[in-house]
Amino acid sequence: MSSKTGHAKLYVIACLAGAAVIGLFLIALVWAADNSRPDYLGYDLSKPWFDGKPWALGLDMYNGASIKPQEVGTFQRFPDNSVPRSGVEPDVPDVWVEDKLLRDLIPENPTRATAASIANGRKIFNIYCAACHGRDGKAQVPVVRRGIPMVPIDLLRNVFSEAHIYNRIRYGGGIMPTYGFQTTRGERWDIVNYLKSQNFGK
Ligand code: HEC
Repeated sequence: MSSKTGHAKLYVIACLAGAAVIGLFLIALVWAADNSRPDYLGYDLSKPWFDGKPWALGLDMYNGASIKPQEVGTFQRFPDNSVPRSGVEPDVPDVWVEDKLLRDLIPENPTRATAASIANGRKIFNIYCAACHGRDGKAQVPVVRRGIPMVPIDLLRNVFSEAHIYNRIRYGGGIMPTYGFQTTRGERWDIVNYLKSQNFGK
């Protein structure tokens, strides 16, 4: 090896090492910028933005500055041991009975799938559900493009029982928030009737 090619090799190696150092520095800079974003209420907003924790959207609204029903400070006093005349909807616990999930079996749908029920279900689905699932259930929506894991309910709606869908709306599940606060019993069955109808998403 002549000393000329030896110098050339040293020169190339030095250049490569220099480029590597600068590259590492740039990567560190980008990484630091990315991790300097503040967290929101313990939710990590650095990329990827979605960290798998459910957002308690309903509770955020509920835990406002308002006085809760029957809390000290409300004007109305209710007689002792009284219950609302409309009754209280019994809870369906999230348990297995033999090899079946209880929430797949009860309650039974009391609302006939009339045109009016389906139309109301469509209206409410498009208000509360379409933001994540899409109006056609195919989830071609911005939150999914930004990383929220999603399932195709345009297909699943045929597989799940009516009770399963009803309870999913009432209680939420997985990372899906509950919509029990926002919907009445009747509205939930209207959504179920709409999801089960031939006209879903059309
Ligand atoms: C904030 C986003 C979001 C909204 C709004 C939303 N969902 Fe979901 N939903 C999800 C996610 C995410 C999943 C699937 C992932 C999981 O199960 O953890 C899901 C799953 C489902 C499933 C499949 C159930 C199962 O057992 O896998 C049904 C049915 C469903 N949603 C119906 C609805 C209905 C009806 C509404 C409106 C009342 C609604 N969703 C509103 C995010 C949402």
